[in-house]
Amino acid sequence: MRVVRTRAELAAALADARGRTGLVPTMGNLHRGHLALVEAVRKQADFIVASIFVNPLQFGPSEDYKTYPRTFDEDCAAFADAGVDVVFAPAVQDIYPDGAEAIEQVTVPPHLADILEGASRSGHFNGVATVVKLLFDVVHPNVAAFGEKDFQQLLVIRWLVNAYSLPVAILGVPTVREPSGLALSSRNQYLTADERARAPAIYSALTAVAEAIRAGDIDWAALSAKGADALASAGLQPEYLELRNANDLSAPRAGEPLVVLTAARLGKARLIDNLRV
Ligand code: PAF
Repeated sequence: MRVVRTRAELAAALADARGRTGLVPTMGNLHRGHLALVEAVRKQADFIVASIFVNPLQFGPSEDYKTYPRTFDEDCAAFADAGVDVVFAPAVQDIYPDGAEAIEQVTVPPHLADILEGASRSGHFNGVATVVKLLFDVVHPNVAAFGEKDFQQLLVIRWLVNAYSLPVAILGVPTVREPSGLALSSRNQYLTADERARAPAIYSALTAVAEAIRAGDIDWAALSAKGADALASAGLQPEYLELRNANDLSAPRAGEPLVVLTAARLGKARLIDNLRV
């Protein structure tokens, strides 16, 4: 496995690629969820590039950009074990040579960017779409994988690919969970032992809402309120728990594919999760 730091080194490494190229974009601090992305891409690509880049553009001023866990050596070892061919780990200056503020950002339409995660994280999805487009532009992947845990992000990436007619297939990879149901996330490590014991309440609340819908309940507002109450009773602070159309995040309607999405604070962590119904 080669580790490359600059766009020029990446271009040289890609010159050796044969067949289809797969991309796994990450911010590092790998867990089994990231390795599931590599597995998914491997089925459709001959040459795998994984990126490690903590993207300043997608963090708000009061968010954890500076403290985001950086575990570069462990990440490279895990990618090597997983059969990745090239790790692209650029510095911020290599991605944004004139500074992150100077780059012309991709503008994600408000119906996707300003709801749910975007409602409290202004500019987040523009930052994600901007860096992912840039990664696609330099890696030229045939296929790229993103986790369904970041469900809204996955829809933003699908929008990006359509809006810019990018020749890359997007794979959505199911969320990897602990036996308790807690979705794997780099931010789980912010949890204390007590908070970790409470965190599976997120999955339980989502499951209860999904089961109620399957049993015929279509009172979306009451279902959301009940789910949020369940989180609050477990000691979490829900930011939202909402039902949406799973194809475009529009308002839910009976008979359509649905997804229930939530974000909740627990101690220092802000955790997100979702469940398709
Ligand atoms: O999901 C992530 O880790 C990031 O948002 C991504 C897609 C690597 C872009 O920085």
